[in-house]
Amino acid sequence: MPFLLLLFVTMLRIASLHFSSPLILAPLAGYTDLPFRLLCRRFGAGFCVSEMISCHGLVYRQPNTLRMLRSLPEERPVSFQLFGAEPEMMAEAARILMEFSPDMVDINMGCPVKKVTKKGAGAALMTEPKLAESIIAKVTGAATVPVTVKIRLGKDKKQINAVEFAQMAEAAGAAAVTVHARTWAQGFSGTIDHNAITAVKKALSIPVIGNGDILTHQDARQMMATTGCDGVMIGRGALGAPWIFSDRAVPATVAEISNTALMHLDLIEQFLPAEKMLGYVKNQMCRYFKGVYGSAALRREIFATGSITAIRQLLSIGQRQ
Ligand SMILES: Cc1cc2nc3c(=O)[nH]c(=O)nc-3n(C[C@H](O)[C@H](O)[C@H](O)COP(=O)(O)O)c2cc1C
Repeated sequence: MPFLLLLFVTMLRIASLHFSSPLILAPLAGYTDLPFRLLCRRFGAGFCVSEMISCHGLVYRQPNTLRMLRSLPEERPVSFQLFGAEPEMMAEAARILMEFSPDMVDINMGCPVKKVTKKGAGAALMTEPKLAESIIAKVTGAATVPVTVKIRLGKDKKQINAVEFAQMAEAAGAAAVTVHARTWAQGFSGTIDHNAITAVKKALSIPVIGNGDILTHQDARQMMATTGCDGVMIGRGALGAPWIFSDRAVPATVAEISNTALMHLDLIEQFLPAEKMLGYVKNQMCRYFKGVYGSAALRREIFATGSITAIRQLLSIGQRQ
């Protein structure tokens, strides 16, 4: 009975959706494409979030944007993330998104990258709560699936508004809120404020997902235990380490790690024009061996190769080490 109770309380639900794990792959532009999402689901991620998708790109049906919407039944449930700053445009994008049958839509209100914030989108919306409210209301009105919102703590340490902002998101119709526990000014460095996640959790009745600097499966469980949050989103800690979603032992040898890297390479070759993306593939593959004893030569060789076939051969040699 206590075990069943534990299982029940650690299960994540968003609206009517139930997830097999409360650990979620965070949206990472340039990384959370279909191959990586499939891999993370295989390793136990409860669900994965796509790279951020421009509402303009979607409304104008730009081919590069539409390519980002490729999905497979095997990866479901999946969430597609939208970014933009105009409520009507975001609503129209959400309507179009429904043609691609996502299980959820996430709204990006936390990205600090200039290209996004200078147009008033991403983290800039934390300084415009009325506009953000209108975007959330319009998108929830247009989408036929639960809409979630990903926020930060506020503009900077003098302007923290995560609790009020998250309450506004809930009232506007959000089904869950993810809190990246840093300010816009902090970018991706500086410390995470776990107390802020606790405060948002206490203030809302919808699920709250904590995010920031999770590097191990245990870190994620710890964040849930200390903050009371309902789930944890993992970003950089999952790159080259999709096993972070699993509670099984972390692969330690070059051979075990090569197995997973090869699995990822197979998926990349299956779904992306791998030969045209050699730099990206090398970057992804080398991440698997970062800091792994005895792998320096393998990493050097991967970087020096000129084809996917050569990378595959190197990983196959790694598999036998
Ligand atoms: C390379 C990179 C790309 C990112 N892309 C997105 C994105 O598309 N949408 C978004 O909401 N956040 C994005 N983020 C932020 C992450 O989702 C996450 O909130 C942040 O990295 C903190 O979590 P972590 O410490 O687990 O990486 C990105 C972060 C990085 C490093």
